[in-house]
Amino acid sequence: MKLLVVQNTLHFKIISMKIFTAFLFVLVLSAQAIAQTSQLPVMIGDVKGFTKTTNGISVTLTNARADISVYSPTTIRVRISGAPLGPDQSYAVVAAATGTFTRVRDHRDSLMLETDSLRVVIQKKPFRVKFCKPDGTILLEDYPAFGTSWLGTEVTSYKKLFPDEKFIGLGEKTGPLNRRGNAYQNWNTDIPSYSEHQDPLYQSIPFYMGIHGQVVYGIFLDNSYRTRFNFGASTDDAFSFFSAANGDLNYYFFGASTVAGIIQDYTSLTGRMPLPPYWSLGYQQCRWGYYPESEVMSLAQKFRDKKIPCDVIYLDIDYMDSYKIFTWNSTRFPDPKKMIGTLNKAGFHIVTIVDPGIKVEKGYKAYEEGLRENCFIKYPDGTIYTGSVWPGRCHFPDFTLEEARQWWGKSFTALTDPGVEGFWNDMNEPATWGQNIPDIVELNFDGLKGTLAKGHNIYGLEMSRATYEGTKKLLGGKRPFVLTRAGFSGIQRYSAVWTGDNTSTEKDILMGVRLVNSMGLSGISFTGADIGGFVGSPTKEMFVRWLSVGIYTPFLRNHTEVNSRDQEPWAFGEDFEALSRTLIEYRYKLLPYIYSTFYESTLTGMPVARSLAIGYTFDNSIYDWNYQNQYMFGKFMLVAPLTSDQQFARVYLPKGNWFQLSTGKRFTGPGEILTEAPLSELPVFISEGAMIPMQPVIQNTGEKPGDTLTLMVYQGNIASVFTYYEDDGISFDYEKGAYLKRDFTLDPEKRRLIVGKAEGSWNSKYKKLKVVFQGGDKPEEHTIDFRNDKSEISYR
Ligand code: GLC
Repeated sequence: MKLLVVQNTLHFKIISMKIFTAFLFVLVLSAQAIAQTSQLPVMIGDVKGFTKTTNGISVTLTNARADISVYSPTTIRVRISGAPLGPDQSYAVVAAATGTFTRVRDHRDSLMLETDSLRVVIQKKPFRVKFCKPDGTILLEDYPAFGTSWLGTEVTSYKKLFPDEKFIGLGEKTGPLNRRGNAYQNWNTDIPSYSEHQDPLYQSIPFYMGIHGQVVYGIFLDNSYRTRFNFGASTDDAFSFFSAANGDLNYYFFGASTVAGIIQDYTSLTGRMPLPPYWSLGYQQCRWGYYPESEVMSLAQKFRDKKIPCDVIYLDIDYMDSYKIFTWNSTRFPDPKKMIGTLNKAGFHIVTIVDPGIKVEKGYKAYEEGLRENCFIKYPDGTIYTGSVWPGRCHFPDFTLEEARQWWGKSFTALTDPGVEGFWNDMNEPATWGQNIPDIVELNFDGLKGTLAKGHNIYGLEMSRATYEGTKKLLGGKRPFVLTRAGFSGIQRYSAVWTGDNTSTEKDILMGVRLVNSMGLSGISFTGADIGGFVGSPTKEMFVRWLSVGIYTPFLRNHTEVNSRDQEPWAFGEDFEALSRTLIEYRYKLLPYIYSTFYESTLTGMPVARSLAIGYTFDNSIYDWNYQNQYMFGKFMLVAPLTSDQQFARVYLPKGNWFQLSTGKRFTGPGEILTEAPLSELPVFISEGAMIPMQPVIQNTGEKPGDTLTLMVYQGNIASVFTYYEDDGISFDYEKGAYLKRDFTLDPEKRRLIVGKAEGSWNSKYKKLKVVFQGGDKPEEHTIDFRNDKSEISYR
């Protein structure tokens, strides 16, 4: 019995051991299962049901919810949320959904949604989206195998890749015009002397366009977390994808039928550039190290003595007292107001740098105020974040807090009172020494609260907004000029953008062009690279070549780092000074054409520097490695940028007739031509039907350009229209009608040019219009009274 008991006990023990082991096993298994679930992707699942909403439909899915809404017949928003829907907040988008689907059909396997221009097909099991033209042509569809899925908090949308698909846009990104086979990420980064393949740079513009067959489409992923875009890199040519590290998969699909139409829709959603001051289109001179006052004054004098046109002089960080924002170094600049007053009289406008880092220093106004107003970003425990930049230990304003934006904006009186009119926002990625502000730092997000993981990419955007809105109030009706290094989609509403710390190399000349053109494709028109290169020193040949490209760049600024060799237009010897003068003079002659082009951009988002992918989207040659840097400067001028070691150029001329600017020689495209390209002559070609308004050389935009506007007409068989625009160039009075706008219409059939009726109350600064017809047997000139109501000129 005892034995039995013992045995039983043993048996019991064995049994309980087995149960315990099994229990442990199950425990380990389920733990493994949990671990595995969190490591493996979670698929979006099937459609469980849907309801109609004001602007579209809301779909319930196995693992998410999708809201699909109509912003315009060609703009559809898809917002997919894995978590319960949070508030709908965007710092990029300024438009609201206005439309709705004209038809919603619920089939057994799919939902069919229609607008006047698009058809959206939603497959139910599993949920997949397809965007088509009304005739059924597929523009873009989810990749059947994965569609949308999550990996942890990261959400990704996989899209089917067409064999011939090309990708353009994505803002300030290095790499080729056609981004097929490349992958990129968006995380604003301070990256001096970046290479040709560096990624990411300073800006995040999560907007691109796809091109295949004879169709185009656009995607804007409105998510400010770290985002990634893969255009078929390592995906076996099967799919492209875009993802966001956290938050919703919140994207807009653009289905307009041309690249220009998509840019127009994208900028209707994220806003357009306001008209900049006319002077900011002139030549701008910068360097890190212009101080003290006497050096700035003699720099200005030299421009006037040497008769090299210039409108703007910059003051970099050295104008401040110990790099403290909103202060002046009183030894170097004892009387800024007087200095700027004198410079203004000589036709110069002053731009000063501002960085977001506010020095931690008792008694320093901006620090004390920022502290008092509770404007600085903090760790979750309430400790103010401190990082090091130029002034040493700094706090950083929270530009997503209305009070901080207001405070920042008002602080500019320190600069506007003495007469500063331009504000250069730097280091706003935000950058610190060490380049890694912890993501856990919190931002206000206008009351919604979030962390820097979400706020990092929009920091520069909101800083530029605070700067633009603040200085606009302080400038007494004058247009502020704002320049920024970092930004996000929508930055065009507040600021021009320059491409940061490039390097004085030949390759950088062309890389800068591609960055500018890519930003142009992505809604940002007012852009440029540091002419001559920021890091290092250019050769004299390189400098002149760079400048010759620069004059056909929306934002024209010569800038270099501290302690590099002199880089002013006269710093490379007399011959090169003469070449530089001629180039800058030509820029000033072109200003009427350039300003009208800027005006067009404020209306439609059409960039000033236009990649050939805009006008010649389906011409494969323009994506060729050899021609991808070519672009249209405005409507009519094709520019073929070169490095200084290229004395001959292979230029691709798309379909149509072209006149070489330097020789007047006529060429017929499509096809490649070989042309001489000495340093004095960048290859530029004018399209048939072009009308280019020009003025005499002036030394700055404040100077009267004489009383005659010259219209260069390149006639042939092409009918065309150019809208000429003029206003005071300084104020916002144009909003109240004080502008002049008139169409020049070229009618080759009737061989006449019509100078249309003037619209607006502004009286042109020109009394006469001289029209020069090129392209016939010999040039023909006619001069008319530009104040006439409407004129017609017949030509032979
Ligand atoms: C940054 C800017 C550069 C500026 C320098 C000093 O490197 O990108 O343009 O000159 O800081 O302020």
